[in-house]
Amino acid sequence: MTDGALGSGQEKGPVGSPFVDASGAQDAMVPCWDAFKVSKDQIDGEIERLKSLPRPANGRRRSYIVHPQSQRNSITPGLRAAIEVVMPGEAVELAASNASSVGICIGGEGRAVVDGKAFDMTLHDTLSVPNMAPQAYANTGDTAYVRLVFSDAPLLEYLRALYVSDGAVAAARESAPHHRDPMADFIYPMPTGGGALKTYHAFIDPEVVEQDAHLWKWGEVKAFLNGMDKNTKDLRAAIITMYWNPATGRTHGSTNTITAWMSGGVDPNWTGKKWDMARSHRHNVTAMNYAIAGQWKTIVEREEITWGPGDLVLTAPAWAMHSNGRFDREAYTFAIQDNALLAAMNSTILQEYVNRPVVHLGARPGFEA
Ligand SMILES: [Fe+2]
Repeated sequence: MTDGALGSGQEKGPVGSPFVDASGAQDAMVPCWDAFKVSKDQIDGEIERLKSLPRPANGRRRSYIVHPQSQRNSITPGLRAAIEVVMPGEAVELAASNASSVGICIGGEGRAVVDGKAFDMTLHDTLSVPNMAPQAYANTGDTAYVRLVFSDAPLLEYLRALYVSDGAVAAARESAPHHRDPMADFIYPMPTGGGALKTYHAFIDPEVVEQDAHLWKWGEVKAFLNGMDKNTKDLRAAIITMYWNPATGRTHGSTNTITAWMSGGVDPNWTGKKWDMARSHRHNVTAMNYAIAGQWKTIVEREEITWGPGDLVLTAPAWAMHSNGRFDREAYTFAIQDNALLAAMNSTILQEYVNRPVVHLGARPGFEA
């Protein structure tokens, strides 16, 4: 099944008619994509190929990791994964775009400058890049500086809403003090119906929430994970931490669409005899994992996938039933999800227990681990 399942126009009515008869048709869910694994060997091979290229015209050595069901060079319907390589002595500058991204360093070291602020990255450090931020990446070591970058550009492309800057925005940020029209905050509550009216002033000058880049240093995250209580009923409560950007508030994003996570730690209760598998569950949030250490297993709709350090796996293709687990005393996995996007849309649906009702997360009370 490809993106065509979303309606490619094949189901259209008579030629020349703008109408599709939907009488009597039930609204239906769209099938999930299949689970998907890209091995460390495959990723290493592609990094080697990028390293061997003559320096491209724009300096950008980059490959997309594409899911076989994608029609827009993406790894999930909404996210694009790219391997980006900067060779020793090289630097690249990227035009700002209205997409946001999260990237993890998977090799070497480098300096990222985002919106004029510098971040030094070493192995497994993670950087969030907000929308419309000019970016530059320079190798500061003597081996290739490699990042695995996840961007929400495919979603914006789908909406035909992707913007790539010609450089004009940087100047706009340094503009003169701004006078905000008081009518921008004017609200007229409707006498009936519960809604309200605002004016054009509100639309053109909404409340500003500044978005900054953030860096999560791997060593600090690792120390936090290992300080968490490991004697919990639900394994996940002991081993999962979210890379939270405070500007995203209750939608829990690293950017406004993408949430990065790190899971794992040293388990003092490790017996070495069986897989520590979390409860099987499902959610419409899509999740990918990139293992940092240890042996991991995912069961997606009865398909079993084992993965280890350097493997990238689509472990939770949206509504698919799945369970993740580990088989090591010390194990870590980085994860990328689109849950900030779904939270902002008030669309997060989660089924934590098979045969129990779904939870509309954030709109109704959640549950305890
Ligand atoms: Fe999950």
